[in-house]
Parts: sequence; C-alpha cells; structure tokens
Amino acid sequence: MEIGKTSFAEVIQTDRTSRENKEWRGTLLDYLEKIKEDPSIPKLAHARLYDFLLGQGMYDIAQSDDARVKRLYKDDNLKVYNYFKDEFFGIERTVAQISRYFHSASLKGEESRQVLYLMGPVGSGKSSLVEKLQRALEETDPVYAIEGCPMFEEPLHLIPRHLRKEFEQMLGVHIEGDLCPTCRFRLKEEYQARYEDVPIVTVSFSKRNRKGIGVVPPVDPNNQDTSVLIGSEDISKLDKYSEGDPRVLELNGAFNVGNRGMVEFIEVFKNETEYLHAMITATQEKFIPAPGRHGTIYVDSVIVAHSNEAEWQKFKADHTNEAILDRIVVVKVPYNLRLSEEVKIYQKILKKSSFRAHVAPHTLEMASMFAILSRLEPTAKCDLITKLRLYNGEEVVEKGRTKKINLQELREDVKREGLSGVSTRFIMKALDNALAESGRCINPINVRETLIAMVKEQDITDDLRKQYLEFLQDTIHKDYLELLEKEITKAFVYSYQAQADALFQNYLDHAEAFVNKTRVKDRNTREELQPDEGFLKSVEEQIAIIGSAADGFRQEVIAYLWAASRRAQTITYKSYEPLKEAIEKKLTNSVRDISRVITKARTRDEEQIGKYHTMVSSLLEQGYCEYCVDVVLKYAANNLWKD
Ligand SMILES: Nc1ncnc2c1ncn2[C@@H]1O[C@H](COP(=O)(O)OP(=O)(O)OP(=O)(O)O)[C@@H](O)[C@H]1O
Ligand SMILES: [Mg+2]
Repeated sequence: MEIGKTSFAEVIQTDRTSRENKEWRGTLLDYLEKIKEDPSIPKLAHARLYDFLLGQGMYDIAQSDDARVKRLYKDDNLKVYNYFKDEFFGIERTVAQISRYFHSASLKGEESRQVLYLMGPVGSGKSSLVEKLQRALEETDPVYAIEGCPMFEEPLHLIPRHLRKEFEQMLGVHIEGDLCPTCRFRLKEEYQARYEDVPIVTVSFSKRNRKGIGVVPPVDPNNQDTSVLIGSEDISKLDKYSEGDPRVLELNGAFNVGNRGMVEFIEVFKNETEYLHAMITATQEKFIPAPGRHGTIYVDSVIVAHSNEAEWQKFKADHTNEAILDRIVVVKVPYNLRLSEEVKIYQKILKKSSFRAHVAPHTLEMASMFAILSRLEPTAKCDLITKLRLYNGEEVVEKGRTKKINLQELREDVKREGLSGVSTRFIMKALDNALAESGRCINPINVRETLIAMVKEQDITDDLRKQYLEFLQDTIHKDYLELLEKEITKAFVYSYQAQADALFQNYLDHAEAFVNKTRVKDRNTREELQPDEGFLKSVEEQIAIIGSAADGFRQEVIAYLWAASRRAQTITYKSYEPLKEAIEKKLTNSVRDISRVITKARTRDEEQIGKYHTMVSSLLEQGYCEYCVDVVLKYAANNLWKD
C-alpha cells in the first residue's frame, strides 16, 4: 500500500476525532446524569485496572492448546491473562498472582489496602511487568476529574457528607474519599460552594505527563525530602498568602500525581523507613499528609514496589519492620526456567532493538540453555540437562533409566530455584558482543565463545565460574554437537521425514507384536513374521535402553500411542519423544560415515561435490546464511568427526 500525503492526514484526523470523542466537559450535575446512565463509571484504582485486564480476555491454563503447557501445569489452577501473554514468557505463575491481587483488590478485599511488591533477581522482568501495568492505565478510557485538580480527583468527592447516602442510593454507587485542600478552597472561593456547578473534565493517564502514574526512584538516604512523595509548599508564595492558605500548595509528589492510577516505588527498600511508612499509610488508610499544615489528603492508588532479593531479605530480617511487612503482598518474579520460553524472551528483545544481523538456527536456544542451566538447582533424581528438558515440558527418559521422573517431586525439592543464575541482560550482552566480533551473524559457535570469555571475566566465585564453564564447555558443547550432527544428517538424508516415519512405523509394528505376542504382517508381502527383536534392539540401544528395560519401554510406547490415537491425534515419528530421539540417532548413525567423509574432505570427487552442494543448499534453506553455514561445517569437521 502506498502511504501518500492524504493517508497521513487521514490517520491524524481519525486519531484526533477518536480522541475528541472520548473527551468530555460538563458540570458535576451533568456528570451525575452520566453515572445514572452507567454506574460503572466511578471506579477505584484497582478495579479500573483489573477491569481492563479482564476485558482483554482470560482463560484457564488447562485450556491451553499447547500440550507441553498442559503437561507442565496440570496440577495448577492458573489463569492466563491475554494482556500479558505475548510479552511475558514462562512466568505464568507470577503473572497469575499479580492478576489475582488485582482481582481481590478490585472486590475491595484486604489486598486493596496492601502494597503489591515484586521481588526477584536482576533482569527477571520486574520493571517490565510494572511498565506493562502502567501501559494498561494509559490504554484505559479517560477518567472524569474535577477540572484543575492537581490530583485529578473523583468528582463525587464534591457531594457533601450529609447527602452522600441519598446520592449513593439514587446512583447505585459507593462514594468514598474527600476533597483535596486545593479543590476545597476553590469550591468555596470560586464557586461559592455551589458544588453542582463545578466543571468536570476527562483526563487520560500518562506516565510522561505525570497524570495518574507517579514514580518514586530510590532517593539519596541523606536527602530524603518527602516532597518527592507528597509535594511541597511554594516558599515564594508563603509571604503572599496567610499560613494555611492552600494556594501555596504544590501537590506534585508521586502520590499526588499517581492518585486514581498507580504509584511505583523502584528499589523500594533503599529508602528510609520514614518513606516506607508514608507508603504504608497511603495504602492502608488511603490518605497522605499534605505538606505544611494542611491536614491529610485522601488518595486512591495502586501501589507497586519492587526490588531484588538481597534487599528484601535485609529488610525482612529487621523485626522493627514487621508492621510494614504485614501490609505487603509479595509476588516472586523468578527467572523463567523453560527453554522454549527463554528463546521467546530474546526474540522479543531483539525484535524491539535495532539488532539486524543474521541469527543462525539454534543460537538463541543454545544461549538460553546456558541461562537456564545456571538457574537450576541440582537434584539427585536426574542430571541437570534432563531437568531442563522436563521443565521444558518434554517427555524424557534419562539415558539408561526407564522410570519416569515426576515433575511435581522435582519442583518440591527446590529451595530458591529461579532466584539466581545468569540474567537475561547477561545473555543479551553476549549476543551483542558476538555480533561485534563477527560483524555479520551470530551463531551457536561465536555466542558460546563469547559466553565463555564473559564468564571468565565475570565477578563471581571460583566455584560458580567452574560450574558455568563446565556447562558451556561440556554440557552444552555436547548437546550442540548432537544437534548439529542431526541437522547435517537431515541435510544429507534424502526425504528424511519419510525415512524416519517408515522406521517408526516398522518399530511400532514389531513392538506391538512383541508386546502382544502376536505376529507382524509384512506390509508388502502380507507374510506373517515373528517380531524382529534384533531390529527393536537396534533402535532402543540408541537411547541406551537395553536388557530388561526394553520390555517396559515397548509397553510404554504402545500404550502412549494407543492413547494418542484414541484422542484422534495424528501420529508421526515425533509423537513420542524418547522414540523420536532413538529414530533420529539411528538415521544419523546410518549416514555418519558418508557425511563425515564428505564434510571433512579437502578434495572431493564429482559425486561427492554434488552431495556436498545438496547438503549446503539444504542447510541454507533451513535458515543458515552463507557465512554461518561455513562456520558450523568447519566446527562439525573439527569437533564431530575428530580423527
Ligand atoms: N520472563 C520474561 N518474559 C519476557 N521478558 C522478560 C522475562 N524476563 C526478563 N525479560 C526481559 O528482560 C529484560 C530485563 O527485564 P527488566 O528490566 O524488567 O528486569 P528487572 O527485574 O526490572 O531487573 P532489575 O532488578 O535489574 O531492575 C526486559 O527486556 C524484559 O522484558
Ligand atoms: Mg528494574
């Protein structure tokens, strides 16, 4: 589509009209009529935000169409909110807890008088979650407010106390809160107490314009002036007006501007307790002191705070902080521990950045694998890479074992998993550095090298460094080589999928006959044959299932696929992950010699040249670029088929 001058103008005009349509101006009397039509208009801050979240859609995680997600969360009764779904990955529990907080708070439960506090390690997404909530506020419809009020006050505050009951009945709403000193003064002086005439306008929330969103950065402890929170008195006006005249007030603190929306405390526990007490009174009692001698001011705001775990622990350890602790809803924001979701995090960040280089297949997976391994707690039940796969929702049989590992048990064993390890930012830095080195493309090889270099320089304990290097130089190295070999095999084997499926069908036929003690009907000759146990074994031994373990494995495969076919799922060689792995390995082994010779050879005969080019172009089709296809093939030649 060509975007000409007219269409720019059109876009602007449509936008302006739609904004103007939402703008409204009237008196309190007009506003009351509006509420009568729609009593859902006056909302408290938590309810406004929650209604918006809900409006974007929500479903039970059990209804997810992703089989892995279903498997992972089958014991949890979690709600997924669409609003967060495409930006936050693998922290479903955290997001569900945040949403639950808003749900209870919107019903005026105790949560509406508590601080929402996000605690987690660096780079786990705390700030992003808060920003996302702030964006929700910016997207909600404008609120009605008393014109000129520095706190965008709810106009119903104008209704005098003695009439409120009656108005509440007439309107079907609850009226809470009192006028701020500025509005009280203006009502008397400018409108001669005729509150019904006070002008009401619509106000849109905006973080940048400090409307409905106030932010409190950690403040220098030597200079904790409360004006950041509650505004101040304008000294220059003090000699003009008498003491107690609200015209000297500058109600521009975070609590003032965040009224009706949100106040965010960044690194909250870096502040003095005095600050924190103001925060607690604001949530618990819903008022803040006015600067100077102006009494107190009603506030209605979602108060969100965040910090890392160390600060939280320090704060918690001090028992004089008990009163504050009791008024905080703690939501942990751990690192994501699911491989597939970690990849999505980097895809998201790369998409938003100006990173434009080529990203070779498996690069983000490999970096993500490192991040997650560093975050996992070891267990006696399986090795870490198996744990990683289980957490990823894969069905894994650890080498040589047949007993399935129970995910729930694994989760119960951990103490503080996800609260330490490598952060998203560390990985992003590695990707950037790898690109700076190569100049064209990032791939598993240069990213792994960069990670190794960064770990060597990182300021961590020697033990941890050793552990990280082992992940990179051993665990991940091996895993990647296996994957690379599979990939090269696929590029070599003509119609890989068909061959794999044939092998799979064959295995099923024979395993089924073996388990049921029947015969196999040959698909071509219709001959009835004994199940070929030698063939079955040749597949199973690929994943180290040997001896007595084989019986159980065969039964499991058959049971699994029966269940799948009963649910009318289409079955391919990929349906049952352990078997898929065995089949892929078998195929790989069958062409290992030829792929080795052809990839490594310095000189090739004509036939080999043909095969080599077919392989390369197949890799290019799979997403490699001219540069990295060369890199990975050299890497394979040097590492995979070492002489
Ligand atoms: N689970 C996740 N899903 C999506 N994005 C994530 C996730 N975890 C981290 N990120 C991304 O990682 C980056 C860093 O996150 P963010 O700045 O929000 O972390 P933080 O917890 O506030 O860290 P800090 O404690 O250092 O302030 C952001 O781009 C964020 O979107
Ligand atoms: Mg942050």
